Amino acid sequence: MAGRDSWNMISNSSCSQQTKFNLVQVKGTWTRQVEQRQVEEGRLSDAKIYENKSEQGVSWTVVSPIVFTYRVIQCKNILDPSNDTLLWGHIGDEALKGALSNSKPVKRFVVIDETVSELYGSQLTRYFEARDVVCKILPLPTTEENKCMELVTKILEEVHQFGLDRRSEPIIAIGGGMCLDVVGLAASLYRRRTPYIRVPTTFLAYIDASVGAKTGVNFAGGKNKLGSYVPPMATFLDCSFFRTLPPRQISNGMAEMLKMALMKHRGLFELLESEGSMLLNTKLQSCETSGSSESEDSATASMRIAIETMLEELAPNLWEDDLDRLVDFGHLVSPELEMRVLPALLHGEAVNIDMSFMVYVAHQRGLLTADEKNRIIRCMLGLGLPVWHQDCTLALVQKSLKERLKHSAGSLRMPLPTGLGSAEIFHDMIEDDILCKAYKTWTDELSSTGNK
Ligand SMILES: NC(=O)c1ccc[n+]([C@@H]2O[C@H](COP(=O)([O-])OP(=O)(O)OC[C@H]3O[C@@H](n4cnc5c(N)ncnc54)[C@H](O)[C@@H]3O)[C@@H](O)[C@H]2O)c1
Repeated sequence: MAGRDSWNMISNSSCSQQTKFNLVQVKGTWTRQVEQRQVEEGRLSDAKIYENKSEQGVSWTVVSPIVFTYRVIQCKNILDPSNDTLLWGHIGDEALKGALSNSKPVKRFVVIDETVSELYGSQLTRYFEARDVVCKILPLPTTEENKCMELVTKILEEVHQFGLDRRSEPIIAIGGGMCLDVVGLAASLYRRRTPYIRVPTTFLAYIDASVGAKTGVNFAGGKNKLGSYVPPMATFLDCSFFRTLPPRQISNGMAEMLKMALMKHRGLFELLESEGSMLLNTKLQSCETSGSSESEDSATASMRIAIETMLEELAPNLWEDDLDRLVDFGHLVSPELEMRVLPALLHGEAVNIDMSFMVYVAHQRGLLTADEKNRIIRCMLGLGLPVWHQDCTLALVQKSLKERLKHSAGSLRMPLPTGLGSAEIFHDMIEDDILCKAYKTWTDELSSTGNK
């Protein structure tokens, strides 16, 4: 991020004519005050201005920390008219909530995935009618093939026509990761940043796409090549949407959950290993949202751990300044694979094929025992996930790793499991013979599992 880079530059600078200024606001006017001076009156900003004087002239460097606050809230029956969450869950302050809900009319602009609209559209309309909300509901065909700027522009035109107060009327996105990514990008562009809310309806979006800051669309043949880091105001998680998901979509989400288990949480791995099939069959419907860990069933526990571990990794690195990211496991080769075979593989399926191969790399490097490797692959198969694909060739793997090297400041930064539920980031390029051996064993052992 620019701010962080500037900060480093300043800290490293040895220029003797540098002055650091605080910014203080008195009666509406901001002024600079040399940092050493005691601030006697007014509001002190977190921003700083550094002034450098040299023979060439003066330069100023602004360091302005930007803080984003967003809520991730589990709830039940979000479309029940007696449930406040969809309208007011993004507001933590009860007094403000009361004031806003009493000011009429309440307006909401909703973008909803077309399939989700067919399933839940009438319930949504009834919800807004019952709550006396002026709304525009825009169903869109949000598929990976048309995850592009045209869809963003379409949303922006409709938002513009509808008219929104950007301080109090967040845009709502209801759908899978596709819909959430596209709406997030549109919201981040409209009037430079309009608040938005995510309501994930797929399992993958519930535990992954909806809890971070990234938005995006595909561009120039590349996955999510255009996008922004702008988190929603809030994410509302209602797992009852999973009831209408096909089993393949549940497995798809399981891949991202397994990623967090392999990287950071042995308990979650063991839970998926022993109860994964049950979770698939019940579509994680036994979940409770009481928050009491004593009464927690495995569906509730698995989703909670997946979200907690994900937030732990995302919150300190929302803008991905730090390129050492455990959550990139499964995402080094998969973007290239996913785009190459589109629409044959779902996102989570491509991620799992990548993870499966990397498990073999980790084994080849001596990081995982044969028993651990086999347990992971058995667990993946138990979750209904593909572990091998004919289009995931050695050439594609090598190309993806080279690309990664190019875009990761000269270091591979490759997360690999070092046990069940622990991982490390490896910086050096994998030696060719390790890669080739791992690839050969992977193919020998798993190619018979076939393609999806
Ligand atoms: N922003 C992020 O951090 C992030 C993270 C992971 C993935 N993603 C993105 O998310 C996308 C994948 O998301 P996805 O897997 O949710 O796919 P998706 O949004 O394409 O949805 C999958 C399918 O399920 C249907 N659907 C959605 N909810 C349903 C429901 N409740 N019942 C029945 N059908 C339903 C949709 O119509 C669609 O056909 C990818 O584009 C990926 O890049 C983003």
